[in-house]
Amino acid sequence: MNGDERYAIPRLPALGFGGDWNPEQWEPSVWAEDLRLMVEAHVNLVTVGVFSWAFLEPAPGRYEFGWLDTVLDACLAAGVRVDLATATASPPPWLGHLWPESLPVTDQGVRLAYGARQQYCPSSPIYRDKALALADRISHRYADHDAVVMWHVGNEYGAHTPACWCDTSAEAFRDWLVKRYGSLDVLNDSWATAFWSQRFSDWAEVIPPRRTPYFPNPTQQLDFKRFSSDAMLDLFRAERDVIRGHSAPDKPITTNFMRFFPHADYWAWAAAEDLVSDDWYPDLADSSSHVEGAAGADLMRSLGDGRPWLLMEQAVSAINWRSVNPPKSGGEYRRWSLQQVARGADAVLHFQWRAAVGGAEKWHSAMLPHAGPRTRTWRSVVALGAELESLDSLAGARTHADVGIVLDWNSWWALELDSRPSTGLSLVSIIRQWYEPLWARGYAIDFVHPESDLSRYPLVLVPQLYLSTDAAAQSVIDAAAAGSTVVVGYFSGAVDESDHVRLGGYPAPWQDLLGLWVEEYRPLLPGQSVDLIAHEGTGLSGALKGREWTEHVHATDADVVLSYVGGDLDGAPAVTRRRLPGIGEGTAWYISVGLEAPDLGALLLDIGAASGALPILHTPPPTDVEVAVRETETERYLFLLNHGTTGQEVDISPPGPARRPSWRLLPSREQADGAVVVPAGDVVILVSNQERTSDS
Ligand code: GAL
Repeated sequence: MNGDERYAIPRLPALGFGGDWNPEQWEPSVWAEDLRLMVEAHVNLVTVGVFSWAFLEPAPGRYEFGWLDTVLDACLAAGVRVDLATATASPPPWLGHLWPESLPVTDQGVRLAYGARQQYCPSSPIYRDKALALADRISHRYADHDAVVMWHVGNEYGAHTPACWCDTSAEAFRDWLVKRYGSLDVLNDSWATAFWSQRFSDWAEVIPPRRTPYFPNPTQQLDFKRFSSDAMLDLFRAERDVIRGHSAPDKPITTNFMRFFPHADYWAWAAAEDLVSDDWYPDLADSSSHVEGAAGADLMRSLGDGRPWLLMEQAVSAINWRSVNPPKSGGEYRRWSLQQVARGADAVLHFQWRAAVGGAEKWHSAMLPHAGPRTRTWRSVVALGAELESLDSLAGARTHADVGIVLDWNSWWALELDSRPSTGLSLVSIIRQWYEPLWARGYAIDFVHPESDLSRYPLVLVPQLYLSTDAAAQSVIDAAAAGSTVVVGYFSGAVDESDHVRLGGYPAPWQDLLGLWVEEYRPLLPGQSVDLIAHEGTGLSGALKGREWTEHVHATDADVVLSYVGGDLDGAPAVTRRRLPGIGEGTAWYISVGLEAPDLGALLLDIGAASGALPILHTPPPTDVEVAVRETETERYLFLLNHGTTGQEVDISPPGPARRPSWRLLPSREQADGAVVVPAGDVVILVSNQERTSDS
């Protein structure tokens, strides 16, 4: 049987619905009931075996697959397909007991014990051997099983053990450094070891950044983050290659990501996967979780270069690992699930299928709660399963974005090290401040690696790129030269890839592009603010405040749009714009100050409107209404999600000169013209035959 390549999982020609199923936690007599209820809930995909190592290999080299044979055969018979795990996420006690050197060590030299999960050193040869042997057995045995439609390697790499500081890791780190630098002299230069008498005279002296009396060398720390991401990725690749040796190429291989996860460079990881998948657990204490939900989904779509991705895990209701864990309301569960679909997910999967009786996650919700099917939770699961089934024609649909937000893990790592002008700068919160107003206006937004072709976006946002390679710096310049509007945020372009300051005034790579140079970075103390004044039509007026960060900017060839008022920077430029000379060339903005959220939003919307980037709808959607679009060759789907507590009317006219699409409401297929009412907390989905609103 060959799969259908239009689908994210070619051998599952549908949107995926289901979750992690842990049959080994239950008597086999329960499995039949599980499968019967799965069918009732429209479940078509379960992830099996993520934490099954101790059951598949109860003692070193003694494998027991009988129970898994039964489970997979039963799935096939029931019509439920399987995302089969390699079971290597959590080694059994015997591994740590017999080979304690496989256990991870902290930067303070504490060896962590088994008894939880993910207790392995990513560079441990014995863990690697045992994990690959298991992945080999499993994938060899089940590659041709018709229930198995995809492969799930490990689980949330780095969630608990993103790095290890043991002697084996030190050796692996040195090998990685030898490959990166070739010689100790080059490493000494890159790590600036002339400072504080840190110069190495022998490779054996080079160690991971363990606990030190004062700041460890910053480039050593940065390289250790790069190495640790690569070490885990190397494990993923090794298992992937073992699977590829047995399995057909139309059974995709993935591992589940964790959104804006700081410890793995997901650009590199996504390139190594067949399919991006992700876990999302919104914080119910945060009333704007849905904004994070949108941004995370956009990141996943972007990591896969626009291809549909899988929501591998979410909770139906409560989780068990924050301090207080309330349930989701029924509305949130459906709305947040459909939000992920609206932004590119072709599967909605959960942790987990059946609520556990024992263990650390027994108070985590599941599709099938402790109280069984006579529950609100169960009814909302069955309803969502049916709704997704009715949306099958959406599978494979893509989203075209006019806005690209630059994101690079290397820069993120360097920005948030110690010994900076301010440790108050958080990349994720800066990105969030820039993302939110454009999201609220209903722009489709991609995240983008700085070294990729940025010129495909009319609007390129560089909220924070503290570290830029030469290629990244050039790519931003090229985008503006090709006609994009580029907006650069403060403290960007400050250092090169070794975290060395780029000399001659900041941001050295973009002084010509922006038409300015920065003499000094001047972070503000907590609670401190500066006054600003707007000079010309920017969408801003009145008394403005700057917080968190300021810079002493000299404009050489840029229009000054906002200036500082009073204090040391009185009259100096705070926000500038440079229109590049020549027809078809773009515009370059610099924002040197931490604007308050509404002012930053107004400014970015004004810049966006002038850039030619088109939002999805002509009229701004009402507050709390999220808009998203997905398109197949033949149809266009418009999602309207009301995250607020009152019903809202949404004008669904397209922007620009495009003809009005003829929208029909789903599932009724009734004609909808002009405006649509979206009740509080609800989601409305419309479909039209494909008529693009731009010639993109
Ligand atoms: C995820 C993990 C699952 C489960 C879930 C609980 O991080 O992959 O195995 O622990 O959290 O929310």
